[in-house]
Amino acid sequence: MKMEHPSNVASDQPRQPIPATPEALLSAVLASNERTADPRLRHILDSLLRHLHAFASEVQLSYAELEEGIDFLVQIGKATGPEKHEGILLADILGLATLVGLIDAKKALAAGGTEPALIGPFWRANQPLRPNGAQIASAQTPGDKLFVDGRVVSLDGHPIPNARVETWQASPGGLYENQDPHQEDMNLRARFETDEDGRFSFHSVRPAGYAVPVDGPCGKLLGLQRRDIMRPAHLHFIVLAEGYKTLATQIFDADDPNAYRDVVFGAVGSLLQHFDVQEDGGYVLNLELKLEPGTMRVPLCPLP
Ligand SMILES: [Fe+2]
Repeated sequence: MKMEHPSNVASDQPRQPIPATPEALLSAVLASNERTADPRLRHILDSLLRHLHAFASEVQLSYAELEEGIDFLVQIGKATGPEKHEGILLADILGLATLVGLIDAKKALAAGGTEPALIGPFWRANQPLRPNGAQIASAQTPGDKLFVDGRVVSLDGHPIPNARVETWQASPGGLYENQDPHQEDMNLRARFETDEDGRFSFHSVRPAGYAVPVDGPCGKLLGLQRRDIMRPAHLHFIVLAEGYKTLATQIFDADDPNAYRDVVFGAVGSLLQHFDVQEDGGYVLNLELKLEPGTMRVPLCPLP
């Protein structure tokens, strides 16, 4: 039996040529979206089409430039693999990931919740579950000692027990273990569970800032824009707890020379923090992560 595409339904639109003007073309394109069944998808596509047409008209896009843009998207796809997610990197360097995070956290931020920050391309699935107080740096990892003393609480300050805390960070050499043959598998990565008081803690080393990968189309774009390519040193966190909206964030080293020029615009608001130096020369990061009530969602994990 021949399946009929759902769009092959008779349209009641008048059958006449589209007048050859950008305005009439846009009307026709928007009309073509009117039967999209999912209302949210229809709304998103409607807005996307309007802005896309307005953008092309504003810059008077040439056909050659359109081809170049399409090829750029093809290259983004080709540069994405198990080692690196170029699509996520693109959303990051455009500031789009940070914007979406801020939109999503609007209510939490108004109520004093922790600022979100993008997940980025380096979170790995199946990070090892470690007990609180564990050392997450292998013995071969050089660098200054860092103790992270964290607490997960609700907006009104109540502890959230049994929350899953995912963390990952670059080494003092500025590389994640999956980018660096000299580091052990899953070095500087862990999953913790908060105790009855919402606490989690671990020993590690002070991370270094790093350049985002520039061997793909995103790097080419950054070069054309003559932009800085550095991220300030940071630790990533994702907190998952039943009854709360998932928080993905990063804590940045406010003393990093690049603290105020993050290439992916993630270092916002109170996420810049000073790591306290201790008598033994190590550092301590005291951390409170405040979650908004809502539905827990496990984010898309970019790496296996
Ligand atoms: Fe990172």
